[in-house]
Amino acid sequence: METGFESAFPRPSPSERAIFNSGALSMNAPLTPGMIQDLNVPPYVQHARLIAWVGEMVALCKPDRVHWCDGSPAEYDALCQQLVDAGTLKKLNPAKRPGSFLACSDPSDVARVEDRTFICSERQQDAGPTNNWEPPAEMRAKLQPLFDGCMRGRTMYVIPFSMGPLGSPIAHIGVELSDSAYVAVNMKLMTRMGKGAIEVLGEAGEFVPCVHTVGAPLSPGQKDQTAWPCNPKLKYIVHYPETREIWSYGSGYGGNALLGKKCFALRIASTMGRDQGWLAEHMLILGVENPQGKKYHVAAAFPSACGKTNFSMLVPPAGFDGWKVTTIGDDIAWIKPGADGRLYAINPEAGYFGVAPGTNLHTNPNCMHSLDREVIFTNVALTDDGAVWWEGMEKDTGTTPAHLIDWQGKDWTPADGQAGRKAAHPNARFTVAATNNPVLDPAWDDPAGVPIDAFIFGGRRSTTVPLVTEARNWTEGVYMAATMGSETTAAAFGAQGVVRRDPFAMLPFCGYNMADYFGHWLKMGEKLQGQGARLPAIYCVNWFRKDEAGKFVWPGYGENMRVLKWMIDRVEGRAAGQPTMFGIAPRYAEINWSGLNFSPAQFDTVTRIDRDAWMQEFALHDELFAQLAQGLPSALLATRQALEQSLAAD
Ligand code: GTP
Ligand code: SPV
Ligand code: MN
Repeated sequence: METGFESAFPRPSPSERAIFNSGALSMNAPLTPGMIQDLNVPPYVQHARLIAWVGEMVALCKPDRVHWCDGSPAEYDALCQQLVDAGTLKKLNPAKRPGSFLACSDPSDVARVEDRTFICSERQQDAGPTNNWEPPAEMRAKLQPLFDGCMRGRTMYVIPFSMGPLGSPIAHIGVELSDSAYVAVNMKLMTRMGKGAIEVLGEAGEFVPCVHTVGAPLSPGQKDQTAWPCNPKLKYIVHYPETREIWSYGSGYGGNALLGKKCFALRIASTMGRDQGWLAEHMLILGVENPQGKKYHVAAAFPSACGKTNFSMLVPPAGFDGWKVTTIGDDIAWIKPGADGRLYAINPEAGYFGVAPGTNLHTNPNCMHSLDREVIFTNVALTDDGAVWWEGMEKDTGTTPAHLIDWQGKDWTPADGQAGRKAAHPNARFTVAATNNPVLDPAWDDPAGVPIDAFIFGGRRSTTVPLVTEARNWTEGVYMAATMGSETTAAAFGAQGVVRRDPFAMLPFCGYNMADYFGHWLKMGEKLQGQGARLPAIYCVNWFRKDEAGKFVWPGYGENMRVLKWMIDRVEGRAAGQPTMFGIAPRYAEINWSGLNFSPAQFDTVTRIDRDAWMQEFALHDELFAQLAQGLPSALLATRQALEQSLAAD
C-alpha cells in the first residue's frame, strides 16, 4: 500500500530502532518477534501489512504506547474510566442515566470543519469544484511535519472496524489509528469494532487506513491542561481517494475524528461506489409496514441536522393504527444492485451520533428511549442531580431547570436562556449503539441489506419547495436531488441559516466531482432499467416551510407519516395525485388527516408553487450547473428547460 510517507520518513530515535531494525518498513518483510512485541501486537492479529503499517505510523507519530482495541465490554469500561480520570468524561448519575457519560469539547472543536476538509485526488477535476483540493504530493508534504511526533506523550489506539455487518458482501473494513480514547469508545458504539473486524481481515484482507490525531503532543512529563485536547488553531481532514487513505489532524469531534463515518462511509466509499457500481449516500433507511403486514423500505437524504434521525424512528400518529416504522439506519446508506435488479441497502454504521437539541418525547420518543442508558453525550448541559439537559427538553417536563452547568462548564439559569445563551451547544450530540433503539428493524444487521422501494430528498427551506412531490421519472428525480437547496445548520462550523445548494445532501461528503456523481446516479438508473427492473420512486420533500410570522406551518415529526403513507399509496398505485410543475403532488383529499387539524388553506401554504420564487430558484439551479459545467450530464440541462417551460405554461 502506498502511504506516501516512505520517502520522507523521519529518522528513528533509539526507542524506535527495534521497529526499524525489524524491517517493518518493507511491506513484504516477514514479521519478527521483536517488532510484534514493540508494537504490542496481540496474537490474534496475523495481518503482516496491517502490522507493518502500524509500525510505520508508530515511527511517524511517536506515541508513548500502542493499544490494540479488541472491542470487548471490559475494554470499553476501562477506557471510559480512564477518560473519567482524565476529566474528559463525567460519569452521569446512574439512577438517572445508567452507564452514561458527558463530554464537553473545546469551544474551537464543536462541529465538522468543511473549509478544512480536502479531497486530494491526483487531478483537480476529479475532486471537482465543490471540494477543497490540493495535489496529494503537496498535501503530504504539509502533513508530514504535522504528523511527525504528533502523538508524543499519548497512546496510539489501533481501532479495527467493519462498516456494515461483519463479513457482509456490502461491508468494508477500516483501521483507525487515533491518539484519542474518546474516539476509541465512540467507535465502539458507532461501528462493529475490535477483534471481529480483525478476523474478517484475516492475513491479507483489504482495509482503509485512517490516521487521526488531536494534534496536541505532550513533551516529557507534560500533562494535558485541558480535558479536550485538540489543536484550536489548525485542523486538516484529508482524503486521498486514489489510495483510499484518510488523515485527520487537530480535531476530536464527530465526523472530523470518527473516521468510519463521513470520511470513510461517505467520501472514500462514494469513490469506491463510482468505481464499482454502487452508491454511498447520506441517507437514513427505514422499514414501513402497512396494516396488512406488507413491508416497504425507504431511503431518505436530508442535509445535516435536517431530520434523518427523527424520520428514521418515526412514531405513526393516532389514525395510523397498524402502521409500523422501524429503523435500519439514521445517517448513511450503502446501496448495491442485487441479482434481481433491485437496489439493496445496508447501514454501514452500528450506532447513532445524533443531534440532541430539539429531541424530546414529543418530537422523537423512540430516540429518547434509546438514550435511557449507555450513552456518551457531548456538549449537552449537566443538571444539578447529575443528569443531562438540552433545549427542547422543557417540552417534556413543562419547566426549564433553575440551574444547569452549560456545555462550556459555566453556570446557567433560565435568565441566560432568555438572553439567548444556549445551555447545550446547538450541535450537541449523543453517541449510542443501534441496539438501544426500541424500533430497530429486525433486518438492520442483515448482511444482504433491504430492497429499496423509494428514495426521498429533502432540504430545510422556509419558502419555495413544496411539502412533497414525486418525480415523473428517474432523471427528473436525479434533477430534484441534484438541485436541492437547504438552510445551513450548526452541524458544520460557519454561518447558519443561509440557503446553499446541497446536492443529494452530499455537498460536504462527496469524495469526487459532483457532476460525475450526478452522472453515476443517471447511469445506475439506466443500467437497472435496462435489466427490466422497476426503479425506486423518487420524492422531494420539505418539512420546513414557514408562515409570515416565521413559524413552521407543517407540524413535522410523527406527522410526516401522513406524507410517507401517501408515498406508499403512490407506490401501490392507490393515489392518482395531480401534476405540478415540479412533479406529482398529493391532492388534499389523498392525505389521511385523521387526528390532525390541518385545513385546505394550510395545505395550500405548504404546497403552493409560487411562480416568481421558482424563477429565482431556477436561476440558482443555473448557478450550480454553471459551477459544475465540466462533465454535467446533458439530461439535467434538458430537464431544467422542460421544467421552466412547464412553469411558464402553468
Ligand atoms: P445529522 O446527524 O447531522 O446528519 O442530522 P439528521 O438529519 O439526523 O437530523 P436530526 O433528525 O437529528 O434533526 C435535527 C434537528 O431537526 C432537530 O433539532 C429536530 O428537532 C429537527 N427536526 C427533525 N425533524 C423535523 C421535522 O419534521 N420538522 C421540524 N420542524 N424540525 C425537525
Ligand atoms: C452530519 O453532520 O451530517 C453528521 C454529524 O451526521 S458528523 O458525524 O459530525 O458529521
Ligand atoms: Mn449526517
